[in-house]
Order: sequence, then structure tokens, then C-alpha cells
Amino acid sequence: MNIGIIGSGTMGSGIAQVAATSGCKVKLYDTNQDALDKAKTALEKILNRLIEKGRIDDTEKNRIQNNISYVDNLKDLADSKLTIEAIVENLDIKKKVFSELETYVSDDCIIASNTSSLSIASIAASLQKPERCVGIHFFNPAPLMKLVEVIPALQTSKEVLEKSIQIISDWKKTVAVAKDTPGFIVNRVARPFYGESLRIYEEGLAEFATIDHSLKSLGGFRMGPFELMDFIGNDVNYTVTETVFAAFYFDPRYKPAFTQKRFAEAGYLGRKSGKGYYDYDENGRRVIQSDSEEPLNRDLAKQIFNRVLVMLINEAADALFLNIASAADIDNAMTKGVNYPKGLLAWADEKGIDWCVNKMDELYNEYHEDRYRCSPLLRKMKRENKTFF
Ligand code: NAI
Repeated sequence: MNIGIIGSGTMGSGIAQVAATSGCKVKLYDTNQDALDKAKTALEKILNRLIEKGRIDDTEKNRIQNNISYVDNLKDLADSKLTIEAIVENLDIKKKVFSELETYVSDDCIIASNTSSLSIASIAASLQKPERCVGIHFFNPAPLMKLVEVIPALQTSKEVLEKSIQIISDWKKTVAVAKDTPGFIVNRVARPFYGESLRIYEEGLAEFATIDHSLKSLGGFRMGPFELMDFIGNDVNYTVTETVFAAFYFDPRYKPAFTQKRFAEAGYLGRKSGKGYYDYDENGRRVIQSDSEEPLNRDLAKQIFNRVLVMLINEAADALFLNIASAADIDNAMTKGVNYPKGLLAWADEKGIDWCVNKMDELYNEYHEDRYRCSPLLRKMKRENKTFF
């Protein structure tokens, strides 16, 4: 199958690798020759590393490389059956590219966007045939992360949705179908992981390292929230939070934190700038400060972990309540899109729905902020003595 990828940056080049590995013929397009060259060199490096690890051989490397051609003319994507756009997050620019693309491709070509924060309906509206538009949202790094969110817009036809799910499943990815709402599943449900941790820090309850350590040691999260924000980049993570907050008409639950804003403004972006919540050497490795070694206060750690966890569970329950996705897809999204150790709804069952409601009410009683309102679904489940699974 011929696939066109628009934008050869971080995401576009990763998606190209996924499609090419699955045997698709990929054309990777970018307006910037430098970006195309970089994508080509980066793939060569990645494939060499896979050879070193014994995961692929030379024949496989050649096969994957031969499946990708690097093009600088949008017209070259004319024979695509599916195009996935991964360019700058700017609606006007995306719309321009899409309306031009539509003049080249055949009527049955699916036109998808990898956008993280724009509505698929708004992108689809730029097309003559909006029913062919769908959101296909990969996670970074695309070749490693199992999850892909597929998001039908209001305009998307059933056939386009089904065909997209089929193609992405053929690429050996786990599909979670999400409603076209801000943050889709992962970027909505994951907000408290960052937001509540930042809030705990801002209240002066604990330092970054203590919060990270609590969530890792008690929750089994692979990375703590501050490590993860440093990894993603405080500029990128802050922008996602701000966008989601605005898109939800300023629901206080998604309110960004000044701490992160200041870190982004100061250029303390994290790993990529050498400094974030932690310091990094020139190879992006964390410079361990001696004060991060202090022994963990178990009670404090438990308090931190429970508070962040219940906020995450509440968000996941509310996403289900509002029909953003099925319970199975919500749990899959978090385990396969951001490597959570457990699905949040399964975690809620394990902790007990009573525990979740009581914990949320405890927070609400303490703060009287709408941010801590318990999802009506959790409350109903408690009343009816139900579990998610
Ligand atoms: P990037 O900045 O690494 O790459 C964007 C590429 O698009 C650049 O190579 C640029 O030259 C090219 N480009 C810009 N305007 C263009 C145009 N008019 N025509 C053709 N090429 C153009 O960006 P990244 O991180 O790959 O993100 C791309 C998209 O993917 C965005 O919509 C973003 O929201 C989404 N996304 C990003 C994730 C991430 O973690 N970076 C995760 C999931 C989605």
C-alpha cells in the first residue's frame, strides 16, 4: 500500500519507519531539505542500532530503507491510499497543505492528521471531501509506542474509520478509538500526572525528586512526572496543558501550573536544554545531585502517590462517563501510549470505588476547588456497588 507522510520531523519520520517496516511503500515529504536529510540519517542510525542488538539483519534494514523515498514536492504523494500529516501544530498551515493535497490524490485516499491538540472536525472542514479525514495520533517515539488513537471527526465516514483502524492494526499497533475532544484519551487523562504533581510541589509538600520517587516506588511508574516533563520538554508539555485548558473552556481541572510556565520561560526545558527540574550532561544523562538521595518518608510518599493516582482515576472515569472512549480503550491507551503500569480503571477496581470516591471527597473538602470534583460516574458506581471490569 502506498502511504504518504507529510512532515519528516520527529513524528513523521517515526511513522514512516512503522509503515515501511510493515511493508508499505512510503513517501516522506517535507518542505525543508534539511529535515529530509536528517530523517534519512536518523533512520540509518536507528536501523544500525537494531542490527547491533540483533533485532534485524542487513536484508531487513535494506528492505525498510528501500520502502521509503524522501520527496520535496507534495504532488509526489498523488498515488497514496493514506496520507498522514505531521507538520507544525498550526491550523492555518495544516488547512493550506490539506486543500492542496486534495487536488493531487485520488478520491479514495484517506487524509489523516497526527495532530495532538487541534480538532479533527476543524481540519476536515478544509477538505472538499471531509468524510475522508480522520485523526491518526501516534505517540513519541512512534516505532516504540504501541498505541495509536484513531479519532473520527463529525464528518468522517464509517468506511474511512474502519479502513484506518484496519491499516493501523496491520502495522501491529494497538488502536484506541477516541471522540474528537481536546487531548483525545491520553493527553486528557494524563493531565493530573503532571498537574497534580506540580500542585503538590507548589504547596511545598515535597520536592521534585521526592514526588518522582513516590510515584515510581509506590506506583510502579517507569518515570516520575518531573523526569517525564523534562524528557518531553517543559515548553512542549506546558503548551499541551495550556491548549487542553483553553479547549475545555478553562475547566479548573486542567489549569496549568506557574512553576512549569516559569521553567519554560526560563529556557529550563529539560533534557534537551541541559536543565529542567533536574540537570543533564551533554549526552542528556541526568546529573545526580546528592540531595536527591535522601531517604523517602513513607507516609508522605503514600500521600503523594494516592493523591496523584486518585486524580488520574477520576479523570479516566470522567472520560468514560462522557463517552470519550470505551473502558478497555481508556485503559489500553494509558498502558500502551504512556507506559502506565496498570490501566487506571482497572486500578480503580483494585483500590475500590469507595476508596476513590472518599479520596476525591477528602480533597474537595480540604480545598473546595472544582478541580477536585468527583466524577458522577464514580459516585454512581459506588451507590450501585459496581466495578469497571
Ligand atoms: P517537528 O517539528 O519535529 O516536525 C515537523 C516537520 O514538519 C518539520 O520537519 C518541518 O520542516 C515540517 N513542515 C513544517 N511545515 C510544513 C509544510 N507546510 N509542509 C511540509 N512540511 C512542513 O514536529 P513533530 O514533533 O514531529 O510534530 C508534528 C505533529 O505531530 C504536530 O501536529 C504534533 O502535534 C503531532 N504530535 C507530536 C508528538 C510529539 O511528541 N512530538 C506526539 C504526537 C503528535
